[in-house]
Amino acid sequence: MPSAQLIDGKAVATDLRAAVAARVGGMYARLGLRPGLAVVLVGEDPASQVYVRNKHKQTEACGMQSFEHRLPADTAQADLLALVARLNADDAVDGILVQLPLPRQIDAQKVIEAIDPAKDVDGFHPINAGRLATGQPALVPCTPLGCLMLLDRTLGAEMAGRHAVVIGRSNIVGKPMAQLLLGRDCTVTIAHSRTRDLAETVHGADIVIAAVGRPEMVRGFWIKPGATVIDVGINRLPPAAAGGKDRLVGDVNFEEAKAVAGHITPVPGGVGPMTIACLLSNTLQAACARRG
Ligand code: GUN
Repeated sequence: MPSAQLIDGKAVATDLRAAVAARVGGMYARLGLRPGLAVVLVGEDPASQVYVRNKHKQTEACGMQSFEHRLPADTAQADLLALVARLNADDAVDGILVQLPLPRQIDAQKVIEAIDPAKDVDGFHPINAGRLATGQPALVPCTPLGCLMLLDRTLGAEMAGRHAVVIGRSNIVGKPMAQLLLGRDCTVTIAHSRTRDLAETVHGADIVIAAVGRPEMVRGFWIKPGATVIDVGINRLPPAAAGGKDRLVGDVNFEEAKAVAGHITPVPGGVGPMTIACLLSNTLQAACARRG
């Protein structure tokens, strides 16, 4: 049985973090400044707490300043907007990330739109989304940016003219991913929960990006032989056997797909590690743009 080559996101992320750290060191030597990233966490969602802790550690490890703001779950929207305004005005802060999801009483879109687009390291502000869609320099959402870097390393110029199918239409992954693939001259289809004949659509793809949040939904027989498969999903399943540990699986049935695909990202160790590395890279980009 042929087996796909694994795309080692962990190794690419380590390289990217090292490159960011080197440029942060250069900036400090030249200007005596360290880029600063502010992360805001509202409430106590356990998964979000893990992400925020990892962001904090990796931000400091690459020589940047990390500012953490933890607010209670019952925070009023006005108080969160006031904090965002303070961070916008704070010269030590180059990047602002408000961890999603937010509690029910807060309108996430209002908060996103309150962030200074120049500090919007998530790339979620409509100004940055619009810049990406019109081919102008932008801060680009971290997860699709990480996927693009993996594709650049795997396929490079071979991406041009290829059929890419993005499964998922979120503002965080699916839509920006489609824009980035268009920017590499792919022919792009965005599929989603209402798509008819999803298996057939995916079977036409040279590049598959799975970002649906449904464990192992993409089956091996959907994949065109030799295709490149990027799995954005991180789904926690209960242990397969009593006494075992939780299992992390992607949106793709990995065992099936790796027998058919040409290249595939594992879960964990594929797209996941790229996301925070791209956040650090975006923070450096924002700092360079603000400070020259
Ligand atoms: N929650 C899950 N992913 C993300 C992300 O990329 N950015 C923010 N702000 N929150 C998230």
